Amino acid sequence: MSDGVDVRLPDFPANWQHRHLLDLERLSAEEITVLLDVAEQLQAAFASTREKLTLLKGCTIANLFFENSTRTRNSFSLAAKRLGADTIEFSSGSSSVAKGETFIDTAKTIEAMDVDAVVVRHSAPGTPHLLARHLNCSVLNAGDGPHEHPTQGLLDILTIRQHRGDVRGLTVALVGDIAHSRTARSNIWGLKKLGAHVIVCGPATLVSRQWEKFGVEVAYNLDQILPRCDVLNLLRIQFERQATRPFPSVHEYALLYAMTAERMRRSRPQILIMAPGPINRGVEITPEVADGPHSVILQQVNNGIAIRMAALWLLVGRRPGVSA
Ligand code: CP
Repeated sequence: MSDGVDVRLPDFPANWQHRHLLDLERLSAEEITVLLDVAEQLQAAFASTREKLTLLKGCTIANLFFENSTRTRNSFSLAAKRLGADTIEFSSGSSSVAKGETFIDTAKTIEAMDVDAVVVRHSAPGTPHLLARHLNCSVLNAGDGPHEHPTQGLLDILTIRQHRGDVRGLTVALVGDIAHSRTARSNIWGLKKLGAHVIVCGPATLVSRQWEKFGVEVAYNLDQILPRCDVLNLLRIQFERQATRPFPSVHEYALLYAMTAERMRRSRPQILIMAPGPINRGVEITPEVADGPHSVILQQVNNGIAIRMAALWLLVGRRPGVSA
């Protein structure tokens, strides 16, 4: 660390109990707030020196990715390194899975390399929960099929909080492929617990009325809800998870649900435009909106590092022999 620079590290929260981060559905508002607060403290600590912290020195974090990723994988890796940990980068495509090794055997093999936490992404919902039952180390969910993507939900909420100060009372619309979106689920649970009004909006084939049971507003017409929204989170249509196309054409979808410059003119002056990414320009968002002054898409990416630093430290950092 740089001489003469006062790096303020967070104290380990006395009320933090979890060994795994599997979903936001089962976290309390207080626990979500701890994650957000620690993320901001670690973000500030790193920014003050631009040098690695030592909170996870001697630890090893393994990224187990069975699905593609740009943002989540690289930011988990960077987060671990900024905390002083070593990393293992596992990709199923170039692994012994191709020789018939099972998922559990693969995970146990990686764990046997003195690993303190595995970060897992898999197309099957519940995969991280399965690993948490079979491994002794911490497990972090980096996206399990359409189920949840807790660190994405947290980084989205952190980004809103940094712009608006508080999430409570805001109207946040999740627009697009709610049916197949793990990001939507993690946002819904996290935002509802922190007091936001959540709207899910998209074609009826992709947005279930069942969400109303959980206190979520369901809408099928973006233009009707637009004037009430403080935040729009624009979700990609996940064609890879669909057997049949859920609307007649991508062009028709874009006409009804894409955020365009014209729709921006009918929005609240301070509206935040978000997207978990990857974005499909011209489908859920046009280039002038994605790159425009209301877009915080790249800030979301950057906040992903801080959230993942917080999650890794809170899950791994208090183990015996690890300096905190
Ligand atoms: N948002 C998100 O999960 O992006 P990646 O698939 O690139 O990790």
